[in-house]
Amino acid sequence: MQSPDSLDRPGSTLRITRPDDWHLHLRDGDALAWTVPWSAAQFARAIVMPNLKPPVVDTAQALAYRERVLAARPAGADFQPLMTLYLTDRTPPAEIARARASGAVFGVKLYPAGATTNSDSGVTDLRHVHGVLEAMQREGMPLLVHGEVTDPEVDVFDREAVFLERHLQPIRRDFPGLKIVLEHITTAQAVDFVLAHDARDARGAPLLGATLTAHHLLHNRNSMFRGGLRPHYYCLPVLKRETHRRRLVEAACSGDARFFLGTDSAPHARGAKEADCGCAGCFSAMHALELYAQAFEQAGCLQRLEGFASHFGADFYGLPRNAGSIELRRQDWEVPQRLDYLDGEIVPVDAGVRLGWRAVASAAPQQQA
Ligand code: NCD
Ligand code: ZN
Repeated sequence: MQSPDSLDRPGSTLRITRPDDWHLHLRDGDALAWTVPWSAAQFARAIVMPNLKPPVVDTAQALAYRERVLAARPAGADFQPLMTLYLTDRTPPAEIARARASGAVFGVKLYPAGATTNSDSGVTDLRHVHGVLEAMQREGMPLLVHGEVTDPEVDVFDREAVFLERHLQPIRRDFPGLKIVLEHITTAQAVDFVLAHDARDARGAPLLGATLTAHHLLHNRNSMFRGGLRPHYYCLPVLKRETHRRRLVEAACSGDARFFLGTDSAPHARGAKEADCGCAGCFSAMHALELYAQAFEQAGCLQRLEGFASHFGADFYGLPRNAGSIELRRQDWEVPQRLDYLDGEIVPVDAGVRLGWRAVASAAPQQQA
């Protein structure tokens, strides 16, 4: 990678190993023909979240979903979906060996019931899944955690921090060999939690890691209320105050391999977000790398983008790093205000904002705006 000083001129380029997205919502049905090309244009692989309606709860469903994703790839794209199972109170421990043997399932997602979009079938009490967690620990199957309590008594801005104490700490204690990804972290407490647990698996990879979204690196909670209510900045876990954002940026820029890229790109049609009870989720797959580059550059750590985006996640999951590369070009451009989406439209995160980098994608979808 070039030295940062050589990157200031218009037209200068930054080439990094092809990245992966370790937390992605592709949805299902007709949406796949729209979502898959965006991610395939920038990422080689993605951990595909299972919160469909109904959720992906067993290996057979994950394999069928994988086929639908593969069928939606643009011609020539080699994008690989890495499937996940949705953990429920009734997941049989034996499902984990099946999932592992399939070679297609790379994690099991814990949604506390009611925590976020399509999480009604989630876990109501961790005691119900002890047998499954034991099997996961044995099989080396990562637990991917939406780390928020759902207790209505707990302030929405404190739900991640309370989850760490109430639930994640006991899970770590009871399953010390379990691989865990704390997904889309939003608080200083989550950064500290990860830093405090430096255990390694047999390959020397971290047992505990965390994904970071671009929008949590770029925005604090003021963005949700700038001049009025801004539903396109509403996601879960919700944006936090500036002190937290700064700690997230510090973690991402630290070069610590426990922190890696997961966009949590979560498309919702405009009408579903601009509503009485608007959906949580930000769509960022179209410009994910550009958003991360912006965040890293603002923090003066562009040289750390490649490890975060392209190396650490693969290392964590015990997968080879990608062979190819992707180029980012210094270019001033404006994120479109809207994109056509199914029979409506979608507002991408940071719509109308000018960004300073443009990914030169291998197979960019036709601009649908
Ligand atoms: C996600 C979605 O829409 O599926 N929404 C979100 O706000 N992040 C679900 C999730 O990851 O919590
Ligand atoms: Zn998500």
